[in-house]
Amino acid sequence: AIQACLFDLDGVLVDTAKYHYQAWKRLAGELGFEFTEKDNERLKGVSRDASLQILLEVGGISDVKEEQRQQLAERKNSWYVESISRMDASELLPGALEFLKECRANGIRTALGSASKNAPLILANTGLAPYFDAIVDGTLTSRAKPDPEVFLLGAAKLGVQPGACVVFEDAEAGIEAAVRAGMRSVGIGSPAVLTQADVVVPSLAAFSVAKLREWQVTA
Ligand code: BG6
Ligand code: MG
Repeated sequence: AIQACLFDLDGVLVDTAKYHYQAWKRLAGELGFEFTEKDNERLKGVSRDASLQILLEVGGISDVKEEQRQQLAERKNSWYVESISRMDASELLPGALEFLKECRANGIRTALGSASKNAPLILANTGLAPYFDAIVDGTLTSRAKPDPEVFLLGAAKLGVQPGACVVFEDAEAGIEAAVRAGMRSVGIGSPAVLTQADVVVPSLAAFSVAKLREWQVTA
């Protein structure tokens, strides 16, 4: 039986994907190139440093020293933090809070599995922190999604076997991480993008513990 749900944060529980995109687009603009929504798909779920690397590739920029890389990543992050500092519970995605509460009510353990180093600030501002039994964020992991580290650590913290975990993810890299962790996965977004997910729904509002139980019988 499914014993635990592991949640990505950005784009699954909160609508921060747009703020990441805005900040990266602004950085690309300063560096003199266009950064489109399609390019942005490759950044979802990926760590800050790895995202910068991809962004620079898109712009055809290769000769950037480490020190300058750090400055660029920090510049992007300062804009991003400005946006999330103003966040509140109104920016929770549809069904997110309800589904977390439902997990709680049904004895299903919950963990956060996010690449973000800003996760604590977001959880505090949106009031989500009390709904998690374990939190794994970008300060605790060294290998970025699609590496399964973040989810395996979350399962270990909960004391649940990977096979009894379901991952909720909006990013291709995150779904791949779930598959590599030996976990089931629910994609949040488009089936055309999240091809490896076991199930894809537009938002958590279209999912429920009942569906989890139904689905686990047929999976
Ligand atoms: C992930 C986002 O959750 O966190 C990525 O999907 C982001 O877009 C990554 O780059 C790292 O976040 P942060 O807040 O540490 O820069
Ligand atoms: Mg995400």
